[in-house]
Amino acid sequence: MPGLRVADLPASERRAAAAVLARGMRDNPLHVAAYGPSPERREATHRRLMTAFLRSTRHDRPIGVWRDGRLVACAGAVSDGRCRPGIGRVVVTLPTLARLGPGTAIRVGRWARAWLDRDPDTPHVHLGPLAVDRDLQGRGIGSLLLAEHCRRLDASGSPGYLETDRPENVRFYARQGYDVVGEAYVIGVRCWFMWREPRR
Ligand SMILES: CC(C)(COP(=O)(O)OP(=O)(O)OC[C@H]1O[C@@H](n2cnc3c(N)ncnc32)[C@H](O)[C@@H]1OP(=O)(O)O)[C@@H](O)C(=O)NCCC(=O)NCCS
Repeated sequence: MPGLRVADLPASERRAAAAVLARGMRDNPLHVAAYGPSPERREATHRRLMTAFLRSTRHDRPIGVWRDGRLVACAGAVSDGRCRPGIGRVVVTLPTLARLGPGTAIRVGRWARAWLDRDPDTPHVHLGPLAVDRDLQGRGIGSLLLAEHCRRLDASGSPGYLETDRPENVRFYARQGYDVVGEAYVIGVRCWFMWREPRR
């Protein structure tokens, strides 16, 4: 697809990034299970959570993809054990969770706990969240974004790790060197856990 630019995502684009992530991930199985049947509610809920998450998490150089000046995809990654939430993230996220209502907050809490419990002890760069805007999926933008992330992993000699909830995503990540290292049902949804060794 012509006219794409891949670069570091500046903090000034965080609001746009939360909107892209919310639109892009709205229909993923985990989001349906956690947020419920209404697509509008899922998008609004995820946007709120992503806004709090991006504000409270120190990502390593998040990556954005722009098409003619519009942010169309983004990815965050954390290293040095920062995928385990510190008190700062808990404090920022809790009021947002509380506003979602008890049912959603409990499901999101169980989802986060289940992923956290499987977080590898071996040092790694933890990828996520990552999404392409809903109207532009399947056109190579995600592959471009993931290639830049993997280029950075290889340049720093770091292993990569991620969780995902769709079989087509497993294929997408496997193409760039991630292997499935575990599977589990999380709030009733099949999830895969993937690991990538750096390439020379
Ligand atoms: C997963 C995602 C980042 C892939 O980016 P993309 O730009 O759509 O994918 P590309 O065009 O670069 O590559 C296509 C491959 O991605 C995978 N894929 C995953 N979701 C897809 C979608 N909604 N549409 C098309 N391909 C998708 C498939 O493996 C596909 O290959 P195939 O056609 O041979 O099956 C993007 O579809 C997305 O944001 N999905 C919703 C949110 C999400 O699942 N994020 C990842 C959470 S771990």
